Amino acid sequence: MDKSSINEDVDPVYPIAERMLGDHKANVEDIVKYEEMWESSINTPDIFFGDLARELLSWTKPFERVQQGSFHEGDIAWFLEGELNACYNCVDRYALETPDKIAIIHEGDEPENVRKITYGELLQEVCRLSNVLKSMDVHKGDKVIIYMPMIPEAVVAMLACARIGAVHSVVFAGFSSDSLRDRIEDCGAHVVLTSDEGRRGGKNIATKLIVDEAIKGTTTTTSTVRHVLVYRRTGSDVPWTENRDLWWHDEMAKARPYCPLTTMSSEDPLFLLYTSGSTGTPKGIVHTTAGYLIGAASTVKYVFDYQPGDIHACMADIGWITGHTYIVYGPLALGATTVLFESTPTYPDPSRFWKMVEKHKVTQFYTAPTAIRALRRLGDKWLEGIDLSSLRVIGSVGEPINPEAWEWYNAQIGKGECAVVDTYWQTETGSIIISPLPGVTPTKPGSATLPFFGIKPVILDPQTGAELEGNDVTGVLAISQPWPSMARTVYNNHHRYLETYLNPYKGFYFTGDGASRDKDGYIWIRGRVDDVINVSGHRLSTSEIESALIHHESVAEAAVVGGHDDLTGQCIHAFTTLKPNVEISEGLEKELSLQVRKVIGPFATPKRIYVVSDLPKTRSGKIMRRILRKIVNKEHDDLGDISTLADPS
Ligand code: WTA
Repeated sequence: MDKSSINEDVDPVYPIAERMLGDHKANVEDIVKYEEMWESSINTPDIFFGDLARELLSWTKPFERVQQGSFHEGDIAWFLEGELNACYNCVDRYALETPDKIAIIHEGDEPENVRKITYGELLQEVCRLSNVLKSMDVHKGDKVIIYMPMIPEAVVAMLACARIGAVHSVVFAGFSSDSLRDRIEDCGAHVVLTSDEGRRGGKNIATKLIVDEAIKGTTTTTSTVRHVLVYRRTGSDVPWTENRDLWWHDEMAKARPYCPLTTMSSEDPLFLLYTSGSTGTPKGIVHTTAGYLIGAASTVKYVFDYQPGDIHACMADIGWITGHTYIVYGPLALGATTVLFESTPTYPDPSRFWKMVEKHKVTQFYTAPTAIRALRRLGDKWLEGIDLSSLRVIGSVGEPINPEAWEWYNAQIGKGECAVVDTYWQTETGSIIISPLPGVTPTKPGSATLPFFGIKPVILDPQTGAELEGNDVTGVLAISQPWPSMARTVYNNHHRYLETYLNPYKGFYFTGDGASRDKDGYIWIRGRVDDVINVSGHRLSTSEIESALIHHESVAEAAVVGGHDDLTGQCIHAFTTLKPNVEISEGLEKELSLQVRKVIGPFATPKRIYVVSDLPKTRSGKIMRRILRKIVNKEHDDLGDISTLADPS
């Protein structure tokens, strides 16, 4: 063993060298063992998850009952009477044991900007910020908005909220001021944490300006926001509102680096995360403390086969659930070293990911199929001479992965020696629910394979709701019994939670995805069956894009559908009609596109905007999106039954 390849930041108990020599036990040994464990997680969840919760988490008061509630009632709760603190579980206990172990490796936008933060340092930073939040009058249960770039302070912010029992709501820093405002208003946050600017792919992003815009722009109500705490990331000049705006470094300098922990009940909310649904405004998905943490920690342990000393690198943004669970809470709950990546896969060039893997000796690498497809397209020359031998598990998430992309990932990145895990889950599920386990589950490119512990997937007939038993069936995907990390409610709207997830098929949790179970019992996700589209793994609601378009003064009607795209999976096609007396002008399409960027954010920009004279409608006036979908996907010959169209021409 060449000593120079030994990582310095290893866990002292299990040096990485040992693992590389193959002297480690995988977390599950084989498929038979997996099946046994899965059966017991389903048949005796109280024992299975009770044991897991005691093994993986530290409690200040043990839970007395493992679970209660049902999908029928929508009153699911786990680990009742238990008390714990998520920040203690992710930071303090490792800061006590191994203060010098690296918790976060920050790979900055410029590859040479690397910051390493130990568990000991992380604890101090989190404590200081917790005290700053307290000084801003943030109490247990209060909502705090985090609108920050991918810097360690964003993670510190999440953990500081968790420490004092404040409920964070991270808003992806690509959302526009309008979207940010909606989220601030919905949760009534008094405090927003942001930075002067963000930096990504060599460009500056005006985060503070967007926050100002979001707070100022409430026309009907005055903003609830009392304070904006601003981290200085780029040093550019930013507008300042005295008394309301505070500099992060000034406030941190005043704060004491110890802050006591607020005791939380298992079912106290840990965070809100807004996500798009098929209708209306985004929903604030509520995750609670213990169940969510168990899901996060156990999937890092089993799906990523986490071993002490591993360097876990998830390339998502903390503004999405993948970042919450697989950059922050999952890895840190296990005391892992987690990589926080500020840049893009192609900055400064398409070797960025792989050079980073080599530099930090990454063991688990997790990204989205769009990135894999884009990098594959750019050619294998970007991999030349780069040592990827530290990798053990490579994961994919967010959208279906096509077999060609899977094969490339496996051959070129995993060198045929890594486990490839195609992980299926959602904001609402909290953590991975369907995925192979490394070295255990035989994989099939394009299939997310088999359920994780505690997950009982069923395929339902979309019309009748009847369960389609046996293999070789296709329908909608639902889950038939509660699991610890599932969302408990929609913030301030439990009715909407029931209507969206639990009432469509009584007794089941409805995912919104279509799926097949093949002859071997493997699950294949077929994509959304509702009005959600998935562009590059970003989840977007067609109705939100339509409503953004309708707000433009020229637009009478809008219909948005998802088209197929070889690179991004799906792409947005928007059809609009204009108001009477409005002429098509040059530049109108561009204007409409800007309108969507302004209302939602750049990632929601339609690929094509068509200004048409009429939209296909039923005689009762309902837009037939099904027909538009066929048109954009070039299935002209197969428009289906159009006899109900008011004007088939
Ligand atoms: C889709 C992201 C196929 C799916 C974690 C789901 C996937 C939505 C996969 C959730 C996968 C996620 N294969 N489709 N492995 N993973 N999806 O809430 O349609 O941003 O419902 O959570 O992404 O997106 P969300």
